Amino acid sequence: MARRKIGLIGAGNIGGELANLAVAKQLGDVVLFDIPQKENLAKGKALDLEQSTALSGCDARVTGTSNWADVAGADILIITAGIPRKPGQSRDDLVATNLPIIRDVADNAKKHCPDAFVIVISNPLDAMVYEFKRRTGASRQKVVGMAGVLDSARFALFLARELNASIKDVRAMVLGGHGDDMVPVLSYCTVNGVPIRQLISKDKLASIIDRTRKGGGEIVGLMGTSAYYAPASSSIAMAEAFLFDQKRLLPCAAYLEGEYGYKDLYMGVPVVIGAGGVEKIVEIELDDEEKAMLKKSAGSVQQVLDVVKKST
Ligand code: APR
Repeated sequence: MARRKIGLIGAGNIGGELANLAVAKQLGDVVLFDIPQKENLAKGKALDLEQSTALSGCDARVTGTSNWADVAGADILIITAGIPRKPGQSRDDLVATNLPIIRDVADNAKKHCPDAFVIVISNPLDAMVYEFKRRTGASRQKVVGMAGVLDSARFALFLARELNASIKDVRAMVLGGHGDDMVPVLSYCTVNGVPIRQLISKDKLASIIDRTRKGGGEIVGLMGTSAYYAPASSSIAMAEAFLFDQKRLLPCAAYLEGEYGYKDLYMGVPVVIGAGGVEKIVEIELDDEEKAMLKKSAGSVQQVLDVVKKST
C-alpha cells in the first residue's frame, strides 16, 4: 500500500508538533504548508524533522511548502491556520482574523484535496469548522473539529491528579462548544467504571470543572500563546482513528442535523471515527443539568456563528 499523505495546513506551533508526532508514529508522508511569508519556516521544520528520520529509521518524506499543489491528493488535512490567543483574549475574539483565513484554506482545500478527511483546529473552533464545511460543501462525514478530545484530556488529567490515580484508568468526556461553557459530563466520567461522583466530593468536582473550562486560558496565561502539545496529540488520535479505521468513540465537533435537538451548527458530541470519517453521531442520555449546560453552550456557539453568517 502506498504511504498515506498528511497535509498540515499551518506550520506554526501546533503544525510543527503535529508533524513531529506524524513522523514519530510513521503515519505517512507529511506536507507542512504555510503562507509564502512563512514558507521558509515550513521548509526548515520539514528538513529538521526529515533529518530526525535518519535516527528513527522512518522512511516518510516531510516537505515544507507554500504551494497548495504540493498538498494535492492528501488523504487527511489538519488545519491550524490562523492566529492563536494572547493573554486576556477569548477564542471568540479571534473570529474576525481567522474567518478570512479559514475561507482561503477552504477554497484551496476544495480545489486541491476534495476527497480528504479534514480535522479543523483553528479557533473559534465550532465556528471555523462550520465555515469550512459551508464553504467547501463537503459532507459532515468528511469535516470534523478537534476540541472535545483535548478538553476531555485536560479534564481527565485534573481528575487523575486529584485522586492520585493512573491516567490510564480515567474516562472523561467533555461535550458542547469549545468555549468557557463547555460541558464536562460527570455522569459518564469514571475511574475504570467507578462513577467519579463516588470518588470526589461535589465541591472539588466543581473546581476541577472550572479549571477544565479555563484550561486553554491557563496555558495562554503562562506562555503568552496557546497550547500545542496536547492539541496536537488530540488531533493525532483522531487522525489515527481515521487512517487505521479504529471506529473510536471520541468527543468531537460534528455537524448536527437534529441530534440532541440542535441543527445547522457544529458542537462537541460523541462520534465514531473510522475509515469513513465521522461514521456516526452517538446520542447518549444526559441528565437535566447536563442538558441545560449543553443548551447554554449551544447558545454561545450560535452567537459566534451568527457573526460568521452575517459576514458571508
Ligand atoms: N494558510 C495557511 N496557513 C496560514 C494561513 C493561511 N491562509 N494564515 C495563517 N497561517 C499560518 C500562520 O502563518 C502560522 O504559521 O498558521 C500558523 C499558525 O501557527 P501559530 O501562530 O503558531 O498558532 P498555533 O499555536 O499553531 O495555533 C493555530 O489553532 O488552537 C488554535 O487558537 C489556535 O487558532 C489557533 C490555531
